[in-house]
Amino acid sequence: MNYDEYYLLCREEYMKHNPSAEQVTLQNFYDETVVVRNLSSFPVEYEEAMNELSLKIKKDFDTGKDCDDDGLMVKHNNIWKFSKEIKQICDILAPVLERDKYSCYVYVDKIYIYRTETTKPDSSYLWHYDNNPHEIVKTLIYLNDVTEQNSPFEYLQKQGAPGYGFLGLCTRKGTKTCYKPPNGSRVGSQVEALLQQGYEKNKICGPKGTAISFLNNTYHKVNVLERGYRDVINIRVKPTLNPAPEYANEKWTTGFEHSGVVNMDPEKAWTKLV
Ligand SMILES: [Fe+2]
Repeated sequence: MNYDEYYLLCREEYMKHNPSAEQVTLQNFYDETVVVRNLSSFPVEYEEAMNELSLKIKKDFDTGKDCDDDGLMVKHNNIWKFSKEIKQICDILAPVLERDKYSCYVYVDKIYIYRTETTKPDSSYLWHYDNNPHEIVKTLIYLNDVTEQNSPFEYLQKQGAPGYGFLGLCTRKGTKTCYKPPNGSRVGSQVEALLQQGYEKNKICGPKGTAISFLNNTYHKVNVLERGYRDVINIRVKPTLNPAPEYANEKWTTGFEHSGVVNMDPEKAWTKLV
């Protein structure tokens, strides 16, 4: 089964259990590819957990503890030492995504915690899309204030239509459709043409705590650093037919230690680690 088919089943199931929920249209799900979350609607616990996590992570990155530096970013390799804060944040964020984005149950399958540190554009610092199925949404949370100078997230949107990003050609849709993407999902050469065709770039700056949800195939990049640093937690969710016992858990949520490519069988959902 492909993820788009599975997602339809998940929406049906969710509406059966939540008949009074307002269903988000499918068109909205696929068209509004980027949403900057309204933090004023989040409970105070979000800010508390995020501040706590921000302090702890800064300490580890500053001292080189539990992290690996590949020259492009410093990656945290022991996310579960922040289990309490991670679970608090996921327990606030995931229900918002279920209600306002998906209209189905979701679970957290991947969490990346990293610091951007390079001034050289390479890898995610170049225009790309992630090429997991469209139905996989990432939420990037800034753990320090981000300005034009310290690596804001940037995406390509329809002119004058914030949030309406451009989706790349997904070649990994599920068990029925899976082949190698053209040019390794790097799309820099197409961006210029799209700019001529009514698209524009949108850089998202914001204070610590800013949370940006995006369909992983939105054309996007991380800007290189001009000064300072940028710490983030990137929380990835997948649709699931049945709710998981909890949103994030060591049994079904991985970090940098596993590939970023999702299992091609959506039906496995949280019953498997990867
Ligand atoms: Fe990416």
